[in-house]
Amino acid sequence: MFEGAMTLTRLIDATTVPDGEGRAVPVSAELTVAVFNIEGEFFATQDQCTHGKASLCEGWTEGFEVVCPVHEGRFDLRNGAPLCFPVTDPLRTFPCQVRDGAVWAEIPRADN
Ligand code: FES
Repeated sequence: MFEGAMTLTRLIDATTVPDGEGRAVPVSAELTVAVFNIEGEFFATQDQCTHGKASLCEGWTEGFEVVCPVHEGRFDLRNGAPLCFPVTDPLRTFPCQVRDGAVWAEIPRADN
């Protein structure tokens, strides 16, 4: 479904994402990416919870897990895996890197 060319997309200045928090970055009309900083390591996932309309950036992190602010479902930021009820579907994740002080992620071209 999401096969095809990837575009390396500049998302946000790394310094604007505090340790242990996430920031939402809209990349298209359909997709907002959440950029999380976990002890200096950055992760990019879809921002919207797979269980509802919640923004995961408005939740909180515990280690490599993000907790949804609405029903407290949890996901593993490293691979998007759902970790507890009520979430059952994984998050989309996007390979990312820090370059020249900014966080970049590989976003499928269809999402740009
Ligand atoms: S909306 Fe996220 S767990 Fe329900």
